[in-house]
Amino acid sequence: MTGNRRSAAWFGETGRAGMIYRSWMRNQGFGPEVLDGRPVIGIATSASELAPCNAHLDRVAEAVKRGVWQAGGFPLMFPTMATGESLMRPTAMLYRNLMAMEVEELIRANPLDGVVLLSGCDKTTPAMLMAAASVDVPAVMVTGGPMLNGKYRGEDVGSGTHVWKFEAELKAGRMTQEECFFAEGCMARSNGHCMTMGTASTMACLAEALGMQLPGSATWPAVDARRFEIAQDAGRRIVAMVDEELRPSGILTREAFENAIRVNAAIGGSTNAIIHLLAIAGRAGVRLSMDDFDVLARAVPTLVNLMPSGKYLMEDFCYAGGLPVVMRRLAQAGLLHSSAVTVTGKGAGDNVSGARCWNDEVITPIDAPFQPAGTGTAVLRGNLAPGGAVIKQSAATPELLTHRGRALVFDTAEAYHAVCDDPDLDVTESDILVIRGAGPKGYPGMPEVSNVVLPAKLLKAGVTDMIRICDGRMSGTGYGTVVLHVSPESAVGGPLALVRTGDEITLDVPSRSLTLHVDDDELDRRRAEWTPPEPVAASGYTWLYTTHVLQADEGADFDFLRGTRGHAVPRDSH
Ligand code: FES
Repeated sequence: MTGNRRSAAWFGETGRAGMIYRSWMRNQGFGPEVLDGRPVIGIATSASELAPCNAHLDRVAEAVKRGVWQAGGFPLMFPTMATGESLMRPTAMLYRNLMAMEVEELIRANPLDGVVLLSGCDKTTPAMLMAAASVDVPAVMVTGGPMLNGKYRGEDVGSGTHVWKFEAELKAGRMTQEECFFAEGCMARSNGHCMTMGTASTMACLAEALGMQLPGSATWPAVDARRFEIAQDAGRRIVAMVDEELRPSGILTREAFENAIRVNAAIGGSTNAIIHLLAIAGRAGVRLSMDDFDVLARAVPTLVNLMPSGKYLMEDFCYAGGLPVVMRRLAQAGLLHSSAVTVTGKGAGDNVSGARCWNDEVITPIDAPFQPAGTGTAVLRGNLAPGGAVIKQSAATPELLTHRGRALVFDTAEAYHAVCDDPDLDVTESDILVIRGAGPKGYPGMPEVSNVVLPAKLLKAGVTDMIRICDGRMSGTGYGTVVLHVSPESAVGGPLALVRTGDEITLDVPSRSLTLHVDDDELDRRRAEWTPPEPVAASGYTWLYTTHVLQADEGADFDFLRGTRGHAVPRDSH
C-alpha cells in the first residue's frame, strides 16, 4: 500500500534526492520515525488576519494535527491564500479562482497523500473544493464555523444582514452614527464567519451536503470546543481515507451535487451557491446547469428559519441539531440521494439516520415548513437574460415577484450611489433599478453590489423594497427583490447593455421570465451602436482574469481551469 503513496516518491527515495527530501524535513525535528512511509497529510490553512473570518484557523489546524497523529499519519500544515470578503478590493470573488489555482498546485507539487482543507469566509470554501476536485487526492474539508450570534440592545443581530438594515435606518434618520459604531462590535462577538445564512454558512453546509466534510461539521460555532473535536475527527478520518483511496472523484458525483442543490433550497441558502457549485462541478467533470437549480429546488420547501430570510442565526441552527436534521428530513421525503458516498465512507443517508431535532421553530418539519416548496431561488430567462438570471424569492417582497415597471438605468453601481441620496431623483417605488457593469469581466470580479440601498427619498417615505436588476451578485446576507447574475453580462454585450431609462421591464417569477419590452429591431439598432467598454487591465492578474473568466451561468471559473488535472507526481529535478 505504502508504495502507492505519493509521499513515497519523496521520502521513500534513496540516493541524493531522497537525502535532500528527508534531510531538510529534519531541520524541524522530524526524525526517521515519521518518515517511514506513513500517510503524509497536508493541512491547508487559509488563516489570515486579513481574512477575519479565517483568523482562528491555525488553532483548528492544531486540532486536525492531533487527529492525524492519533491515526498514525504525519501532518504538515501549510498556508494558503485567503480571500477575505470584508477587506479585499475590488471584491474577493476576483481572487477565488487564483486561490483555487494556488491550492491545487500546492497539493500537487508537495509530498502529500491526503489533505485537510481549512476554510471559512465565503470564497475560501469553494476555492478549496475546486482545487480538491482538480487535483483529486483524498480530501476532507473543515470549515471554521460561524461567529456567535450578534447581540445588540436585547436583540439578535446578524452579520451582514443588519449592515443593510442599519444602513437603511441611518439613511432614514432613525439611527445615529454613534449607535452604528456601537452596533458594529455587537455584530462580531467572536472568531468565525458570518452567522447568518450568508454565503459562508451556505457553503459550509453545502460542503457537508456534498459529502466533503464530516456530518454535523458545518454549524458548530468557531469558538465551541466541538469545533475542535470535529477538526480532530477529520484529522483521524483523512488518514483512513488515504488507505481507502477515497478521493473527491468518488464523492463529487452528480448525486452529490443534486443533494447540495436540494439542501441549498432547504436551508434558504445564498444565491452565490449557484455560481460556486457550477464552478466545483466544472472541475469535477459533472454536468450541471442553472436550470438544474430551478428544477431540483422547486420540490423542496425551506426548512431552516434563518436570517436573511428568517429570524434565527447559525448558533440556533446548530443547537437545533444542525444540517444532519435537514438532510434526514429530506431523506425521509425522498429528496436526498441517500447512497451518495461521503468522506465518512458511508452514504449521505446513513450519516444522518440518527439525527434529531431539538427545535422545530428553527428547523421546521417538512409538512409544516418555514416556506413552502417552490419559493426558493428561481432561475429566470427572457430577452433580458438569455443565459439566465436568479432571484432569491424568500428574500424578496411577494407582491413584487410579478411586476411591470419603468427602467431607471445606471452603468455602474457607483453611478447610482452618486445620485441615490438626491431628494429630486426621478424615481418611484414602482420603477425598476437596473445596475450594470457588475459582471465577471465588467467590474471585474462580479461584486456583491446588486442589492443597492433604495433611494433615500423612497426610504424616507417608508418604502422598504423595490425591484433591482443587475449582472453582479448579492451578498448571501442581503435581501430584497433583486434579480442577480444576469447573463450574459453587459460588458460582453448582453441585452442588459441595451436597456435605456424609460424602457418597460416585466418580472414574472411564477413563469420564470424577465422581459424587456423593446422590439427586436430596436434592440438590433441599439446593439449596432453599442461599443464595448475599455479593457480594465492590460497586464497582470486582472488581465488574466478578464481574459479567461467564464460567465456566471458557467460558474465564473477560468476557461483553462475546468476539469481535473490529477495527482500524478511531478518530475524530480534533484
Ligand atoms: Fe467572511 Fe461574511 S465576511 S463570511
